[in-house]
Parts: sequence; structure tokens; C-alpha cells
Amino acid sequence: MKCVPKCIRVHKREGEEVRKRLADSGILDTGYKISRNGEFLEIPVLCDSFEGREAVDSEAEETESRPTEYREILDFPDWLNEELPSSYDIIGDVAIIKLSDALFPYRERIGEAMMEATPSIRAVMMDSGVKGEFRIRELEKIAGTGTSETVHKEFGVRISVDPSLVYFNPRLATERARVALCVKDGEKVIDMFAGVAPFPLVISKLARPEVIYAIDLNPEAERFMKANIESNHAANIVPIIGDARSAVKGLPKADRIIMNLPQSSDDFLDSALEAAKDGAVIHMHRVLERDEAEAFVAELTERMRSAGYNIRIARTSELKTYSPSMSVYVFDIVKC
Ligand SMILES: C[S@@+](CC[C@H](N)C(=O)[O-])C[C@H]1O[C@@H](n2cnc3c(N)ncnc32)[C@H](O)[C@@H]1O
Repeated sequence: MKCVPKCIRVHKREGEEVRKRLADSGILDTGYKISRNGEFLEIPVLCDSFEGREAVDSEAEETESRPTEYREILDFPDWLNEELPSSYDIIGDVAIIKLSDALFPYRERIGEAMMEATPSIRAVMMDSGVKGEFRIRELEKIAGTGTSETVHKEFGVRISVDPSLVYFNPRLATERARVALCVKDGEKVIDMFAGVAPFPLVISKLARPEVIYAIDLNPEAERFMKANIESNHAANIVPIIGDARSAVKGLPKADRIIMNLPQSSDDFLDSALEAAKDGAVIHMHRVLERDEAEAFVAELTERMRSAGYNIRIARTSELKTYSPSMSVYVFDIVKC
């Protein structure tokens, strides 16, 4: 079944401004053309409403069709085609793809095809995996120009990042918005493993906390955090470079703590609980075998009780698949 495109109607006077804001927020539907109806423009969108304007069904024409699937462009034989990933990450104008050994000799052709399929991509990087305690990616450019430094846009926030220097995951956008919408006015928030500060930036944009402390051990994170705070006018974010365990000791008690360190976050949970007010919520990410998630919750509750803390797991959610048998979970933990 073909989808009916949705549009918002705006007066032509404000059309360009609204189009820009939609594009910045990543919800302009570029698959359809903007059309004119008298004094009004109908702008195709990927959401149900925007700034109080409701999106309505429209008869917008599709933009010029081009092969959107890079696999169609490559037209590899079946045995090789099956190796091609069905998805890849786009951070700003940089695409990042993981390739199997069989595809390695064809990497440059693959990169060119990706650029042809998605003209907004400036460079394609081959990702050989996330490494070390800073969780940074080993990247090799296989097509396009420039470096892996880019500006990613998410919910109207501009996130300056170089994924070869500091970790960033564009797939956590929905989780960042979910956490931001939980934040109440005046809260004190700590992000213990902030990277370039995407959680703090989205929270600062969508909520009204008093302060958000953004901690990261990676010294490269500092310049990106500072640039992001400035470009988003997010004066309530305080960047701190250092080890989260010691950095939280000097901070005022928090209402909410984010722990996005999926390999070992629970090793830091006692420090987070010490830094949290009673009733505070801790959003803790953890990678686990899918059939061990339930046992992990019981074991963690017991481990914290032995360390002198009472906790309640208010919500468990599977964020993404990590391997055939493992997933990344987020636990919303309440300090009782
Ligand atoms: C999975 S990344 C999360 C980044 C960020 N929250 C995001 O969503 O893009 C984990 C981050 O924790 C940082 N890190 C690792 N060990 C740390 C520690 N002991 N204290 C503070 N930060 C640490 C790494 O440098 C990395 O940037």
C-alpha cells in the first residue's frame, strides 16, 4: 500500500523559515515536493504536527525518483549482494558502514553507490568497530571528501562530533527525547558518560532543568561539548572532563542521572546512587544476554542492597539488538 504524504499549511510569507526549521529538526519529508495553494504553501512533513500546526493528508508529488537503495545501484551478484548491510548510520553528512571481509575489496564501489543513492552524504567511512574505554570507532574513508568531523541534527539540536575521536550514536535519538520529556522544571541532572553531550543538549532543548552536568573521561570530548553548548545556547550544561566516579563526588545531589556506558555501567551504580537524591531516577544502559535480563535485575537489586542502597526498577526497555543473542537495555532505577 502506498503511503499518503502529510503536509502542514503555512502562509507563503513564513514558508522558507518554517521549511528551514523542519529541515533542521529532521522532519521535512524530502521525498515530496512543496506545493503552492493560493497564499499558502503545503510543506511535506514526517510528523503529525509541528509548532501547533496539524499535518493533513495531501496530494504532494514525489520528488524526482532515483535509486534510493545503494544495493540497486551496485547490482552485485546474489552471493555478494547478500553480504551487503541493509542499514548503516548517518551522522550529519557522514555515512558509516560495517562491511564483511568478503566486501572489503569492493569498499570504494560501495561507498560511491551510497553517495549516489543519498546525495546529502559528503563522505562514507568504513567502520572496523568500537574500541577502548572511550568507545571510539576505527574509521577509513571509502568515498567522498573531508574528515569524519560533522554536525548532526536531532530535535532541532546541532551536535558537533567526530566519531573517530568521541563516541556518538545517532540511533539513541528517541531515547534521548524520552528521557528529556521525563525531566521536570528545575531538576539537577548528571550525565556520567556524556560523550559530546547529546543527552544534555536534547534535555536542555526540550525541558527546563536547573543544571545538567556532562561528564566524560575522554579529553577529546571537551572541545565538542564546549562547541555544542555554545552553538545551542545551552548555558545550563556544565562540561566536566574526568572519571565519573570521582567527578560526581563534588556535585550537588541530583534528581536524575544518565548512565550510558552499556559494557560496565552497573560497576558505577553505587557512585550514582551516592550522588542521587532520594526518589531520583537513574537511566542505566546495559548490554546483556537476552535470556539473562530478568536475573540481572534481581542480582543488581541484591548487590545494591548489600552496598546499603534500596532501589526499585520502575521500567525496563530493550533499546537495540547488540548481537544475535544480546541486546542493549535501559533500566529506569528509582533510589528508594
Ligand atoms: C557509550 S559512550 C556514551 C556517549 C554519550 N552518552 C552518547 O550518547 O553519545 C560512553 C562514554 O563514556 C566515556 N567513559 C568511559 N569511561 C568513563 C569514566 N570512567 N568516566 C567518565 N566517562 C567515561 C567514554 O569516553 C564514552 O564517551
